[in-house]
Amino acid sequence: MKIAVMPGDGIGQEVTDQAVKVLKAVVGNHPMELVYAPVGQAGVDAAGDPLPLQTREIADKAEAILFGSAGVPGDEAIEYNMRPGASLLRLRKQLNLFANFRPAFLFPELIGASTLKPEVVEGLDIMILRELTGDIYFGEPRGVHTLPNGEREAFNTMRYSESEIRRIGHVAFQTARLRHHKVCSVDKANVLETMQLWREVMTEVGREYPDVELSHLFVDAAAMQLMRAPKQFDVMVTGNIFGDILSDAAAMLTGSIGMLPSASLSTGNKGLYEPVHGTAPDIAGQNLANPLASILSMAMMLRLSFHQPELALKVERAVQHVLADGLRTGDIYQPGCEQVGTREMGNAVVKALARLPR
Ligand code: IPM
Ligand code: MG
Repeated sequence: MKIAVMPGDGIGQEVTDQAVKVLKAVVGNHPMELVYAPVGQAGVDAAGDPLPLQTREIADKAEAILFGSAGVPGDEAIEYNMRPGASLLRLRKQLNLFANFRPAFLFPELIGASTLKPEVVEGLDIMILRELTGDIYFGEPRGVHTLPNGEREAFNTMRYSESEIRRIGHVAFQTARLRHHKVCSVDKANVLETMQLWREVMTEVGREYPDVELSHLFVDAAAMQLMRAPKQFDVMVTGNIFGDILSDAAAMLTGSIGMLPSASLSTGNKGLYEPVHGTAPDIAGQNLANPLASILSMAMMLRLSFHQPELALKVERAVQHVLADGLRTGDIYQPGCEQVGTREMGNAVVKALARLPR
């Protein structure tokens, strides 16, 4: 296993440390090569570039990337290529990681941590599939210019080609076949041409999967349904920006964004694995962050890039044990539980691994 480790900035460092600790514990003697590479502000500090050339080369050679988070507060003012927070976007684009899997799964132990009623979220298991290399995130032209009247105007472009929509569509239907055979495609076809094409192409792709039920929702209605009756969803497929927003919303169904892992895949097995959360500068460096999203992302890596479902399951079961034991970081704390820090949570997962029946 050849893994690039990119902790990045903010809590990325702390949570990735815990994921690596658990990774080492679960793989045991399995040959594994970990190569650390700086990214984000850490890249700027080390090599004057948020995505240094050496980091890009390490990413190219690795079979999988374990990513923390990147960015510093206020960095949107910095030019795109030098912006720490944009390094992740550049990496996604460079590695063609177009398929972003964001499972929203509720551990039964955390049912009380959700702000929604238990009966609404109990048994929740949604896979949000977000297209990750297109859309308004990357569309050209983009920029800021000055109008003849002297005021500034900024613009971005939402665009999707048929082939981009088709390839994420196939991933959605194939994923649904391994789950509950339902795909809900989320768009804004009532307003945007880009999204009309999205709906047309999804419908076409859907015809090749008669065993999978396809439905469509406008993104505003999808947001509402996610809060009203989230259990109706199996696979939700959507574009880059809508997926960004809906996956944060879905995170709250599960209690905390600190619990949600993600995998970003290209056409091969190569993947980038990262928690859905960001750098959380307000709590960085204080041993307060929840490392479980990073640990669970590492489990996705074992399953999807290294085809080690048993090891992945072990990690997931160890996490469940720790939650069942009542250990909680601040974000998922409930009265009656024991509040622990980032490191203690990681240590507890390692201990729980050792306790699992063989
Ligand atoms: C995410 C994040 C990123 C995104 C940011 C950090 C650029 O919010 O992965 O959801 O918008 O894609
Ligand atoms: Mg986001």
